[in-house]
Amino acid sequence: MKSGRRRLSDWIFGYGSLVWRPDFPFIERAPAAIEGWTRRFWQGSTDHRGVPGNPGRVVTLVHEPGARCWGMAYRIEAAVRDRVLGDLAHREKDGYDRIVLDLTFAEIGRDAVAGFVYRANERNPNYLGPSPLTAIAAQVAASHGPSGDNIEYVLRLAEALRAMQVDDAHVFALERLVIGTQAP
Ligand code: BEZ
Repeated sequence: MKSGRRRLSDWIFGYGSLVWRPDFPFIERAPAAIEGWTRRFWQGSTDHRGVPGNPGRVVTLVHEPGARCWGMAYRIEAAVRDRVLGDLAHREKDGYDRIVLDLTFAEIGRDAVAGFVYRANERNPNYLGPSPLTAIAAQVAASHGPSGDNIEYVLRLAEALRAMQVDDAHVFALERLVIGTQAP
Protein backbone atom coordinates (compact mmCIF):
# COMPACT_ATOMS: atom_id res chain seq x y z
CA MET A 1 0.00 0.00 0.00
CA LYS A 2 1.25 3.46 -0.86
CA SER A 3 1.16 6.15 1.74
CA GLY A 4 2.15 9.76 1.71
CA ARG A 5 0.97 13.19 2.56
CA ARG A 6 -2.80 13.17 2.46
CA ARG A 7 -5.79 14.98 3.87
CA LEU A 8 -6.63 13.80 7.37
CA SER A 9 -10.02 12.54 8.39
CA ASP A 10 -11.68 10.85 11.34
CA TRP A 11 -13.85 8.82 8.98
CA ILE A 12 -13.20 5.51 7.23
CA PHE A 13 -15.53 4.28 4.50
CA GLY A 14 -16.04 0.57 3.95
CA TYR A 15 -17.62 -0.91 0.85
CA GLY A 16 -16.22 -4.45 1.07
CA SER A 17 -15.19 -6.49 4.08
CA LEU A 18 -15.20 -3.35 6.20
CA VAL A 19 -18.97 -3.22 5.86
CA TRP A 20 -19.39 -6.32 8.01
CA ARG A 21 -15.99 -6.72 9.69
CA PRO A 22 -14.40 -3.37 10.56
CA ASP A 23 -12.03 -4.88 13.15
CA PHE A 24 -11.15 -1.48 14.62
CA PRO A 25 -12.63 0.65 17.38
CA PHE A 26 -15.07 3.31 16.22
CA ILE A 27 -17.22 5.94 17.90
CA GLU A 28 -20.13 5.73 15.51
CA ARG A 29 -21.05 4.26 12.18
CA ALA A 30 -23.50 5.42 9.57
CA PRO A 31 -24.55 4.28 6.08
CA ALA A 32 -22.94 6.55 3.50
CA ALA A 33 -22.17 6.71 -0.20
CA ILE A 34 -19.46 7.88 -2.55
CA GLU A 35 -20.54 9.49 -5.78
CA GLY A 36 -19.10 8.59 -9.16
CA TRP A 37 -17.84 5.16 -8.11
CA THR A 38 -19.17 1.66 -8.44
CA ARG A 39 -18.19 -1.54 -6.59
CA ARG A 40 -16.77 -4.37 -8.69
CA PHE A 41 -15.23 -7.79 -7.96
CA TRP A 42 -12.24 -6.93 -10.10
CA GLN A 43 -9.38 -7.20 -7.62
CA GLY A 44 -7.45 -10.42 -7.09
CA SER A 45 -6.81 -11.56 -3.53
CA THR A 46 -3.73 -13.66 -2.88
CA ASP A 47 -3.51 -13.02 0.86
CA HIS A 48 -7.08 -13.19 2.19
CA ARG A 49 -9.54 -15.02 -0.07
CA GLY A 50 -7.10 -16.75 -2.36
CA VAL A 51 -3.43 -17.64 -2.62
CA PRO A 52 -0.65 -16.77 -5.06
CA GLY A 53 -1.33 -18.67 -8.28
CA ASN A 54 -5.00 -19.11 -7.37
CA PRO A 55 -6.30 -15.67 -6.46
CA GLY A 56 -9.77 -15.04 -5.18
CA ARG A 57 -11.84 -12.05 -6.21
CA VAL A 58 -12.66 -9.14 -3.91
CA VAL A 59 -14.07 -5.69 -4.47
CA THR A 60 -12.50 -2.50 -5.65
CA LEU A 61 -13.96 0.79 -6.85
CA VAL A 62 -14.30 1.75 -10.49
CA HIS A 63 -15.04 5.25 -11.77
CA GLU A 64 -18.50 5.50 -13.29
CA PRO A 65 -20.08 8.89 -13.87
CA GLY A 66 -23.48 9.08 -12.21
CA ALA A 67 -22.91 5.96 -10.11
CA ARG A 68 -23.13 5.87 -6.32
CA CYS A 69 -21.52 3.24 -4.11
CA TRP A 70 -23.17 2.67 -0.74
CA GLY A 71 -21.23 1.38 2.23
CA MET A 72 -20.62 2.02 5.89
CA ALA A 73 -18.78 5.06 7.28
CA TYR A 74 -17.02 4.75 10.63
CA ARG A 75 -15.92 7.67 12.79
CA ILE A 76 -12.80 6.93 14.79
CA GLU A 77 -11.10 8.81 17.57
CA ALA A 78 -8.27 11.03 16.34
CA ALA A 79 -6.07 9.50 19.04
CA VAL A 80 -6.25 6.03 17.46
CA ARG A 81 -6.16 7.14 13.83
CA ASP A 82 -2.50 6.33 13.19
CA ARG A 83 -2.81 2.89 14.74
CA VAL A 84 -6.05 2.07 12.90
CA LEU A 85 -4.68 3.26 9.55
CA GLY A 86 -1.47 1.34 10.20
CA ASP A 87 -3.41 -1.86 10.92
CA LEU A 88 -5.52 -1.37 7.79
CA ALA A 89 -2.42 -0.69 5.72
CA HIS A 90 -1.14 -4.08 6.85
CA ARG A 91 -4.49 -5.85 6.39
CA GLU A 92 -5.08 -4.40 2.93
CA LYS A 93 -1.54 -4.34 1.61
CA ASP A 94 -2.37 -6.48 -1.43
CA GLY A 95 -2.76 -3.71 -4.01
CA TYR A 96 -4.91 -1.12 -2.29
CA ASP A 97 -4.14 2.58 -2.03
CA ARG A 98 -5.68 4.82 0.58
CA ILE A 99 -7.46 7.81 -0.88
CA VAL A 100 -9.74 10.46 0.57
CA LEU A 101 -13.22 10.95 -0.89
CA ASP A 102 -16.34 12.84 0.06
CA LEU A 103 -18.86 10.71 1.95
CA THR A 104 -22.56 11.51 1.67
CA PHE A 105 -24.67 10.15 4.49
CA ALA A 106 -27.97 8.35 4.06
CA GLU A 107 -29.35 10.45 6.91
CA ILE A 108 -31.15 13.40 5.37
CA GLY A 109 -29.66 16.76 6.29
CA ARG A 110 -26.36 15.39 7.56
CA ASP A 111 -23.36 17.22 6.11
CA ALA A 112 -20.90 15.34 3.93
CA VAL A 113 -17.46 14.56 5.35
CA ALA A 114 -14.14 13.51 3.88
CA GLY A 115 -13.26 9.89 4.58
CA PHE A 116 -10.46 7.42 3.98
CA VAL A 117 -11.25 4.81 1.32
CA TYR A 118 -9.19 1.84 0.09
CA ARG A 119 -9.08 1.36 -3.65
CA ALA A 120 -7.13 -1.04 -5.86
CA ASN A 121 -6.38 0.62 -9.17
CA GLU A 122 -5.85 -1.14 -12.48
CA ARG A 123 -2.06 -0.80 -12.29
CA ASN A 124 -1.56 -2.97 -9.20
CA PRO A 125 -0.13 -6.46 -9.82
CA ASN A 126 -3.19 -8.28 -8.46
CA TYR A 127 -5.72 -6.36 -10.50
CA LEU A 128 -7.88 -8.76 -12.54
CA GLY A 129 -10.37 -6.40 -14.12
CA PRO A 130 -13.70 -7.24 -15.72
CA SER A 131 -14.78 -10.76 -16.69
CA PRO A 132 -18.17 -12.32 -17.38
CA LEU A 133 -19.98 -12.64 -14.06
CA THR A 134 -20.25 -16.42 -14.53
CA ALA A 135 -16.45 -16.62 -14.75
CA ILE A 136 -16.09 -14.45 -11.67
CA ALA A 137 -18.53 -16.74 -9.83
CA ALA A 138 -16.58 -19.83 -10.85
CA GLN A 139 -13.35 -18.24 -9.65
CA VAL A 140 -14.95 -17.25 -6.34
CA ALA A 141 -16.33 -20.76 -5.84
CA ALA A 142 -12.86 -22.25 -6.40
CA SER A 143 -10.90 -19.84 -4.19
CA HIS A 144 -9.91 -20.13 -0.56
CA GLY A 145 -7.35 -18.20 1.45
CA PRO A 146 -6.09 -17.48 4.95
CA SER A 147 -9.21 -15.41 5.74
CA GLY A 148 -11.56 -18.15 4.55
CA ASP A 149 -13.56 -19.18 1.52
CA ASN A 150 -14.03 -16.55 -1.17
CA ILE A 151 -17.69 -17.45 -1.39
CA GLU A 152 -18.14 -16.42 2.24
CA TYR A 153 -16.86 -12.93 1.36
CA VAL A 154 -19.49 -12.58 -1.39
CA LEU A 155 -22.32 -13.91 0.76
CA ARG A 156 -21.46 -11.78 3.78
CA LEU A 157 -21.15 -8.64 1.69
CA ALA A 158 -24.50 -9.29 0.02
CA GLU A 159 -26.12 -10.02 3.37
CA ALA A 160 -24.72 -6.84 4.94
CA LEU A 161 -25.83 -4.68 1.99
CA ARG A 162 -29.28 -6.21 2.08
CA ALA A 163 -29.53 -5.47 5.80
CA MET A 164 -28.74 -1.83 4.96
CA GLN A 165 -31.39 -1.90 2.21
CA VAL A 166 -28.71 -1.18 -0.37
CA ASP A 167 -29.40 -2.39 -3.89
CA ASP A 168 -26.24 -3.45 -5.71
CA ALA A 169 -27.01 -5.36 -8.90
CA HIS A 170 -23.40 -6.55 -9.38
CA VAL A 171 -23.10 -7.99 -5.88
CA PHE A 172 -26.55 -9.57 -5.81
CA ALA A 173 -26.16 -11.14 -9.26
CA LEU A 174 -22.82 -12.60 -8.18
CA GLU A 175 -24.39 -13.85 -4.94
CA ARG A 176 -27.05 -15.74 -6.95
CA LEU A 177 -24.42 -17.25 -9.23
CA VAL A 178 -22.11 -18.41 -6.45
CA ILE A 179 -25.03 -19.97 -4.58
CA GLY A 180 -25.83 -21.79 -7.81
CA THR A 181 -22.32 -23.26 -7.90
CA GLN A 182 -22.82 -24.98 -4.54
CA ALA A 183 -23.97 -28.59 -4.34
CA PRO A 184 -27.53 -28.93 -2.95
C1 BEZ B 1 -13.61 -2.02 2.27
O1 BEZ B 1 -14.31 -2.77 2.91
O2 BEZ B 1 -13.95 -0.88 2.03
C2 BEZ B 1 -12.31 -2.44 1.78
C3 BEZ B 1 -11.36 -2.80 2.65
C4 BEZ B 1 -10.16 -3.17 2.18
C5 BEZ B 1 -9.92 -3.20 0.85
C6 BEZ B 1 -10.91 -2.84 -0.01
C7 BEZ B 1 -12.11 -2.45 0.46
